[in-house]
Amino acid sequence: MTQSALIEELKTLLEPGKVLTDADSLITFGKDWTKHFAPAPLAIAFPKSIEQVQAIVRWANQRQVALVPSGGRTGLSAGAVAANGEVVVAFDYMNQILAFSAVDRSVTCQPGVITQQLQTYAQEQGLYYPVDFASAGSSQIGGNIGTNAGGIKVIRYGMTRNWVAGLKVVTGTGELLELNKGLIKNATGYDLRQLFIGAEGTLGFVVEATMRLDRAPKNLTAMVLGAADFESIMPVLHAFQSKLDLTAFEFFSDKALSKILARGDVPAPFDTACPFYALLEFEASHEQVAEQALATFEHCVEEGWVLDGVMSQSEQQLQNLWKLREYISETISHLTPYKNDISVTVCQVPAFLADIDAIVERHYPDFEVLWYGHIGDGNLHLNILKPQNLSKDEFFDICAGVNTQVFEIVQRYNGSISAEHGVGMTKRDYLHYSRSPAEIGYMKAIKAVFDPNGIMNPGKIFPL
Ligand code: MLT
Ligand code: ZN
Repeated sequence: MTQSALIEELKTLLEPGKVLTDADSLITFGKDWTKHFAPAPLAIAFPKSIEQVQAIVRWANQRQVALVPSGGRTGLSAGAVAANGEVVVAFDYMNQILAFSAVDRSVTCQPGVITQQLQTYAQEQGLYYPVDFASAGSSQIGGNIGTNAGGIKVIRYGMTRNWVAGLKVVTGTGELLELNKGLIKNATGYDLRQLFIGAEGTLGFVVEATMRLDRAPKNLTAMVLGAADFESIMPVLHAFQSKLDLTAFEFFSDKALSKILARGDVPAPFDTACPFYALLEFEASHEQVAEQALATFEHCVEEGWVLDGVMSQSEQQLQNLWKLREYISETISHLTPYKNDISVTVCQVPAFLADIDAIVERHYPDFEVLWYGHIGDGNLHLNILKPQNLSKDEFFDICAGVNTQVFEIVQRYNGSISAEHGVGMTKRDYLHYSRSPAEIGYMKAIKAVFDPNGIMNPGKIFPL
């Protein structure tokens, strides 16, 4: 069948105008935030109902057409990039909040609901959706579930997985499964819901999700602390965690901070220059909590771990301190960073970072390297910035060499090559550094059960 005949057939499954093939749309909907692969989809399909998603999947099976799910396209591992003539299934028109239960503290959403829309909705009900990250204004719930998105509050609230109470998915055969149905307790064998979370659309597409909500936090307060050196950050984490329930514990290097300050729209936290900074947050629900935080800060200064610090006194100051961390990714994106999103257990972080730093410094002394991340969860973002004299492809080729060495260290520490961004296409060749051959074998077998014809986001997680 010709490509144009395929497109005409696809159009009959959807409402008029809901299949796009113009060059702009193919580029826009065929990519995410990565720059490694050129988008080259066949068409973009916009279903408006579960039945339409099922019709697309059944048609794709019949015609052997690969499908790529697309949410807010904020992914950082090319999990939603269509580079091989696939049909992109974009969930932008399935973006409604369908139901809310105050008693269950749950919201049932379509997959195209934007993360911030869910956060705002929860707030309007006096509740809280705690999964949060810089791209919350664009990322969609379906995509968050597909990558098991993490972000800045994982230390307290866990990842997206912790908040999924029920899922409706269309599997690779076009069958609709209703998984866990919002239950808290359910001991009826395999929890298939968990398989679809973090599966990057390789088993099926999320078409509805029931998300749990939490109580709203009280008087969130942030501190930014300047650390004397990297080794000091972990005792600072330990000191604060033993006194307070932290809602975040992030870090960034002086180089990352200098990029933010160069923007000119975010105030410096204080004047003292420090090699690393920690941003921590807690609920100052009583005056004693803030007093305890200040006493812990003083203890950290006395120990020589912390050189300077500031605590937010208003919502505006809280926002400004968060901008120091949250704006980093967007601020450096024009420098074509090569991103690594690695994790180890928290106690291993200092030795792990030192080993990786040594490799990067020894082999790539001319590259500018920025560190930041969710250090309270053991998740570090290593960003290598592209020098101007190298083309994107030359730079990414060199970085692939760095990858192998970095991932050998990750493997030695029993860490993860992707803590929260997913495997997608950028990390698929390195999966074996985090997963054993037996595990990968079982993963592929599971894919074959739910997607026997291999049409669901092929080439993601595993190479084609
Ligand atoms: C972050 O922590 O800022 C996000 O994961 C994005 C990034 O790593 O650049
Ligand atoms: Zn992150």
